[in-house]
Amino acid sequence: MKFYIPPQLPRLALAFAIFISLFLVARHYLVPPSFGQYGHYRGDALIDNALPEIHYAGQKACFDCHQDIQDLKAADVHSGIHCETCHGPGQKHVGSTEAADIIKPTGREFCGRCHSKNAARQENAIFQIDINKHNIGKNCIECHNPHSPWETIMK
Ligand code: HEC
Ligand code: HEC
Ligand code: HEC
Ligand code: HEC
Repeated sequence: MKFYIPPQLPRLALAFAIFISLFLVARHYLVPPSFGQYGHYRGDALIDNALPEIHYAGQKACFDCHQDIQDLKAADVHSGIHCETCHGPGQKHVGSTEAADIIKPTGREFCGRCHSKNAARQENAIFQIDINKHNIGKNCIECHNPHSPWETIMK
């Protein structure tokens, strides 16, 4: 029996060969050079991710100069809240020690962020007050020291 190659096969093979070489050429130009350096990702992505400026210092950095406040805070109900949760990113202030580089929060709304009554909040997880009823007309920090809100009020 004579071996018979259907005429469409070589054409198909040629079409495949062209597609595959086009793919290889495109791949050569599109895959970033550092791809696969460490794994199945772009090696340079590590450098890109390390570039953004650091904003948060972590609260241990604050203890160097504000240990008194940490001692106060650690002894009361706000012990679990880190400095930068209330004061915002502090990396710049750690370097400069300038007051202008750190936020000193004020106002009833600030405390209300966590403490104002909210039906979506689990009751008693954080004690909630009605910010429109609880000692209105005065700022929270006139009675509660923010670093020791309960101890100071008890005295
Ligand atoms: C290297 C010492 C140093 C470190 C670290 C430091 N501070 Fe300070 N901080 C200071 C000094 C000094 C002042 C007083 C600046 C002034 O009154 O001009 C100050 C003032 C402040 C103030 C008052 C700002 C105002 O408007 O009166 C806040 C709030 C504060 N620091 C928070 C922080 C927090 C939060 C951290 C940690 C992220 C921190 N500090 C880390 C030295 C430091
Ligand atoms: C629950 C929010 C909260 C947390 C947590 C907090 N602070 Fe404050 N802090 C405040 C508020 C509000 C003020 C403003 C008080 C005022 O104006 O009398 C303040 C004021 C300050 C001041 C100015 C001096 C003073 O006593 O008024 C410094 C310094 C300071 N905080 C440092 C820190 C450091 C360091 C930590 C972490 C150990 C920290 N704070 C944690 C809310 C907070
Ligand atoms: C980031 C959220 C947060 C902010 C902002 C905050 N608190 Fe708190 N506060 C808490 C948490 C968490 C507790 C601990 C609640 C618990 O243990 O159930 C607490 C506890 C308290 C308590 C004691 C409640 C009790 O019955 O035990 C008082 C009073 C208080 N905060 C006042 C304030 C004041 C005043 C401010 C503004 C200067 C403030 N808080 C800002 C989260 C916050
Ligand atoms: C005039 C002083 C005064 C002012 C201003 C004040 N408080 Fe109080 N706060 C108290 C006293 C006293 C208590 C304890 C008795 C009570 O529950 O009313 C208390 C209790 C609380 C409690 C605990 C409630 C509970 O059910 O255990 C929270 C939370 C609280 N205050 C947050 C705030 C916040 C947030 C502000 C500002 C919006 C604020 N306070 C303003 C005096 C004050």
